[in-house]
Amino acid sequence: MGLDEFKVRVPSLLWIPLLISGALLFFVDVFQLQYYSRVPVKEFSLDQKYLTGFTINTPGCRIPYMDPFDEHIKKFIETPEVPKCNKGIPALFYSNLTSIVLNYSSLPSYNVTVSELKCCYKAFWRVEPKNDEHDNKIDYSENCIKFSESVNIADEFIQVVCTYDNSIKYKDMFSFVPLKDTSAKVTINPRPLNVLMIGLDAVSRLNLHRQMPKTVHFLQEIEAVELLGYNKVADNTFPNLMPVLTGMTENELTSSCWPSTKHYFDKCHFIWKDYKEKGYVTAYGEDSSWMGLFNYQRRGFQKQPTDYAYNYFNRNSEKEIGNCHKMNVYQCEGARYVYNDLLDYIKKFSVTMDKNNLPYFAFFWGASLSHDYLNKPRLGDDNYYNFFKSLQDEGHLNNTVLIFMSRMEERLPFVIISLPKWYRIQYQRAYKTLERNVRRLTTPFDLHETLRDLLHPFNLTDEYVDREDRKSRGYSFFSEIPSKRTCEDAAIESHWCTCQQSLEIDQNSTVVVEVADYAVEYINFELEGYAQCANLSLEEVLNARLMTHSNNSIVAENTIKDYMLTIRTSPGDGIFEVTIRRSVNPNKLGVMGTISRLNLYGKQSSCITDFHLKLYCYCKKLL
Ligand SMILES: *[C@@H]1O[C@H](CO)[C@@H](O)[C@H](O)[C@H]1NC(C)=O
Ligand SMILES: *[C@@H]1O[C@H](CO)[C@@H](O)[C@H](O)[C@H]1NC(C)=O
Ligand SMILES: *[C@@H]1O[C@H](CO)[C@@H](O)[C@H](O)[C@H]1NC(C)=O
Ligand SMILES: *[C@@H]1O[C@H](CO)[C@@H](O)[C@H](O)[C@H]1NC(C)=O
Ligand SMILES: *[C@@H]1O[C@H](CO)[C@@H](O)[C@H](O)[C@H]1NC(C)=O
Ligand SMILES: *[C@@H]1O[C@H](CO)[C@@H](O)[C@H](O)[C@H]1NC(C)=O
Ligand SMILES: *[C@@H]1O[C@H](CO)[C@@H](O)[C@H](O)[C@H]1NC(C)=O
Ligand SMILES: *[C@@H]1O[C@H](CO)[C@@H](O)[C@H](O)[C@H]1NC(C)=O
Repeated sequence: MGLDEFKVRVPSLLWIPLLISGALLFFVDVFQLQYYSRVPVKEFSLDQKYLTGFTINTPGCRIPYMDPFDEHIKKFIETPEVPKCNKGIPALFYSNLTSIVLNYSSLPSYNVTVSELKCCYKAFWRVEPKNDEHDNKIDYSENCIKFSESVNIADEFIQVVCTYDNSIKYKDMFSFVPLKDTSAKVTINPRPLNVLMIGLDAVSRLNLHRQMPKTVHFLQEIEAVELLGYNKVADNTFPNLMPVLTGMTENELTSSCWPSTKHYFDKCHFIWKDYKEKGYVTAYGEDSSWMGLFNYQRRGFQKQPTDYAYNYFNRNSEKEIGNCHKMNVYQCEGARYVYNDLLDYIKKFSVTMDKNNLPYFAFFWGASLSHDYLNKPRLGDDNYYNFFKSLQDEGHLNNTVLIFMSRMEERLPFVIISLPKWYRIQYQRAYKTLERNVRRLTTPFDLHETLRDLLHPFNLTDEYVDREDRKSRGYSFFSEIPSKRTCEDAAIESHWCTCQQSLEIDQNSTVVVEVADYAVEYINFELEGYAQCANLSLEEVLNARLMTHSNNSIVAENTIKDYMLTIRTSPGDGIFEVTIRRSVNPNKLGVMGTISRLNLYGKQSSCITDFHLKLYCYCKKLL
């Protein structure tokens, strides 16, 4: 692989087909080249030119560099409408760490005086599901406790109701972080690092830079490390987060601890169990939790998986006071943004743990801000910025590894890791190695190994970091990831592999038409047996690209070629992206990975429940 080869191919890479769909992914960021030029990666600093055009450029993987603010992309960036929670009526109460407090400035919106209002609160909590029930059961205390201007709360989750003249004037939900018996009172010596994982669903690395520049800039200021080659291993959230949390693929999970969607997840070994065993307090929580990781068309857990679990609060809160529903999510709970409620909870959690000197492992995931709309995350930039800044300013990152991450939005999600400064100094080798891996191909399996390493942060000595005995498909970010690593080595399905070069080819050529017809046939075949879905036909090929693998021998032999097509079908105008492998001699076509739907299907597939097929089905009744 000579330099000449790179030069020839670069220009063709800069044009990306997916603009139409808003799949603004795939691009590699101009920012990193500036901000990360300090990264001491030897083989690149020798010749800057070598880097031009690539974000990852190793013998095993090349990922093209692209400008997130490219002219083609810029026109798709816009500020969406700001949701008006509760039709603009403000919340009557707010909460702090321990209390709910009347907000006097909100009173005018309620047309009442304090003395006229009758308010009471009652606790609610998770109830263990029985037999085949879904894990979304809650129960309320019978007793509604009266109060007026403020009240100290010892419960975890509460509902507040205020009436006037026997009609409900105000209903709200608040969550708290009381200490629990289960919160280990063990003090581990020396005090280990907390692990705080915060996810933002469906945001690529480049879109994060476009949407949340203030947040990104802040994380750069605290010298967090951004992994530039973090490539997803499979299609959507679940199969990309299971590797992080369990180290297993979806199939391995199925064969080891979770036989089917009818089973609970209790038997699976989530990483938080290891932390629990070491005496950490554990927490897990999502917003939009009706479509949560373990709940969307799945049963959830029988026993609560972590000491603290926010989902049960969120589920009930969205059900009772959710508003401003758009596409798949409630944007507001009462007068508050749903994502803000989650951030407030995370803040309460980390403050409480730090105050009580309890080490913790926490995994939080927000979807309400970023799901469905590429431009919505920008509405949360200030809030995320303020949130991270307040954690930092109040010292809550002093002893915490912060992992801010996403999954998918196609292939390259973001992962940003912040380590406490004293730790970076004391464990310099580990930190330098993490920095070196910024420009290596990395995966969710690696993140899992990293979490395993963080279980014993004081063992990450030079000898440990440099050890050579690793055999698993995952590498901790605290050990050098081989530059020879290919997608195959890293267990990244070929369809999701970004380590490729691609050439735009004539979308009217015989071979492209043949391959596109095959794709539609394949979709129709998938829909066979679902009489309610219309047979699709090919309307047009929007874009066709010939992929060439970093493994040149495949290409050289010229027997296998991967075509990545964007096609439009009718009825319904579905836009799909598919990678099809065509081999000659024998002549064979096959779909690689899964077919992605690039535009929204909305109500088109309401006649079918299978969530894979929803992507394809156009209900006949709409014809
Ligand atoms: C919360 O608010 C209550 C009532 O105003 C106050 O007494 C308490 O000090 C506040 N707690 C914190 C941690 O700010
Ligand atoms: C109190 O209400 C006012 C007006 O509704 C709002 O601007 C303010 O942020 C609220 N204060 C708190 C602490 O929630
Ligand atoms: C308060 O009164 C005004 C005027 O009577 C009315 O328009 C408004 O809807 C009332 N607000 C509430 C929250 O009842
Ligand atoms: C966090 O670290 C900073 C700088 O070392 C120090 O000034 C501050 O007191 C620490 N805060 C806490 C809560 O430990
Ligand atoms: C970490 O280090 C301690 C003390 O040196 C040792 O006992 C322990 O086995 C190590 N743990 C791992 C997982 O390497
Ligand atoms: C492919 O064919 C369509 C319709 O005949 C035409 O509009 C389009 O320009 C052609 N594209 C190329 C790249 O030749
Ligand atoms: C569905 O479309 C395919 C082409 O993709 C065609 O071969 C097949 O005959 C059609 N089936 C029906 C039932 O119309
Ligand atoms: C490259 O592809 C060839 C042919 O399929 C295969 O034999 C070889 O193992 C691959 N090499 C790597 C490094 O993936």
